[in-house]
Amino acid sequence: MRIVLLGAPGVGKGTQAQRLAQRAGVVRISTGDLLREAVRQQTPLGMEAKRYMDQGALVPDSVMIGLVREQLAARRGVSGYVLDGFPRTIAQADALNQLLEEAREPLEAVINLEVKEEELIRRLSGRRTCPKCQRVYHVDSAPSAKGLQCEACGTGLVQRDDDRPDTVKNRLSVYRDQTRPLLDYYLERGLLRGVEGVGPVETVTERIVQQLGRS
Ligand code: AP5
Repeated sequence: MRIVLLGAPGVGKGTQAQRLAQRAGVVRISTGDLLREAVRQQTPLGMEAKRYMDQGALVPDSVMIGLVREQLAARRGVSGYVLDGFPRTIAQADALNQLLEEAREPLEAVINLEVKEEELIRRLSGRRTCPKCQRVYHVDSAPSAKGLQCEACGTGLVQRDDDRPDTVKNRLSVYRDQTRPLLDYYLERGLLRGVEGVGPVETVTERIVQQLGRS
């Protein structure tokens, strides 16, 4: 399995990428999680990225392409991956094409999750995440069985800094301007599969699996 999950902030990319990767026995590569870990460890990458992330802006393409190149090289030979949050611009998509061509590992599909904007805002305002194992919860629709702690590792759950209302507004606008053009890009290449992202998490997973022609 070599797929990309596309969609607006809060559409469920992280939630579905974790489930799909676990089910297919492949790795999930989340550029958002990689950046947040770099911020947590205060590496030079993290310090640069934080300036953009706190405003809901995209981290520059050159930085992101270098990061993903390293991740893919480190995983050469694995049975596959789910890319979550990359590519996000046409320049990133072109770079990904080139990397995959060099490795002779073409993408199988690009899944575009679709959810209306008011539901995205509801999801982002109630999201809580585990800073240790990155598991994602929602205070209403997917609460942790352990309350304010992660079900998997017991760490205290946190609200992401970029889930504040003003930053969310900017992230949605950046998505519309810079990432939505990728829908036509992948449609023209015959890779795009649209999936309705509303409904129980398990149902959305089944829709994706169906679109991929797997069981
Ligand atoms: P990133 O972490 O990738 O954020 P995002 O794309 O904005 O996406 P989110 O993580 O907010 O949402 P999601 O779609 O994963 O939804 P989730 O599953 O969590 O990037 C963060 C920042 O890093 C960017 O703003 C940018 O600055 C930088 N960055 C990252 N990649 C970059 C790149 N390639 N180039 C440049 N910059 C980059 O779900 C959301 C909530 O909804 C959760 O609470 C969940 O429980 C709930 N939920 C999920 N599914 C359902 C459902 N079916 N029903 C009800 N609730 C649901």
